Amino acid sequence: MNPISIRTLQAMKDRGEKFTSLTAYDATYAQLAAEAGVEVLLVGDSLGNVVQGHDSTLPVSTDDMAYHTAAVARGNRRAERPALVMTDLPFMAYGTLEQGLENARKVMQAGAHMVKVEGDDWLIPLVESLGRQGVPVCVHLGLTPQSVNKLGGYRVQGKEQDKADAMVAHCQALEAAGADVLLLECVPSSLAARITATVGIPVIGIGAGADTDGQVLVMHDMLGLNTGHTPKFVKNFLTGGRNVQQAFAAYTEEVKNGQFPAAEHGFSA
Ligand code: KIV
Repeated sequence: MNPISIRTLQAMKDRGEKFTSLTAYDATYAQLAAEAGVEVLLVGDSLGNVVQGHDSTLPVSTDDMAYHTAAVARGNRRAERPALVMTDLPFMAYGTLEQGLENARKVMQAGAHMVKVEGDDWLIPLVESLGRQGVPVCVHLGLTPQSVNKLGGYRVQGKEQDKADAMVAHCQALEAAGADVLLLECVPSSLAARITATVGIPVIGIGAGADTDGQVLVMHDMLGLNTGHTPKFVKNFLTGGRNVQQAFAAYTEEVKNGQFPAAEHGFSA
């Protein structure tokens, strides 16, 4: 079967078919998730929290991201239909255009198919440059964990009308600059639905309601391995006697048939 690419995701959006994404940090879980039908494996800098034991993503380095990307890429290649591997550029790894290009090179050469960066329209020059170099980009907006100190905590973004309008404008500008995918974290479900309907590129949501084109969860959260506060948007799929493979399959099925996320997993404006 053909590996998942950005063209696959675009075609799924165009057909109105939902797709799934899960974080992965090692070869075994990457292979199991791809075999369960997950389309996008996100090597998230959340590995700072769930693998390294930090209380934020800030300590994660580009070398850490490249190491975990290489492991995920090896496991993914063993699956019958490999997923698309998307890797976060970590905190301060794209403060300048030169840093962004160099660090994107490192994770792409480690096995990523796409990079993800957090921010808004200030990323336009980087998105354009990466596109010219043949690097697909996902821009992560809303609650951007690398900016937790500036945001004053992990809180829902875009509740106010002016902030919501600005987010829509930023998404349109990023699409025009060549962004391939957008990811919205912890924004009101109505705003995520508006952005998904406004842009032509695929939109992935986490804590963003049911109307985005795709959904993503941190693997540890959806396996009920959360050791601290469990966010409202999380559902534990490792229940009812399921094993890990069955939990991954249940997640993909519930996203595709619209059962997950339910209204209770979203935020109001
Ligand atoms: O790093 C990560 O796991 C992420 C998800 C929360 C979307 O960016």
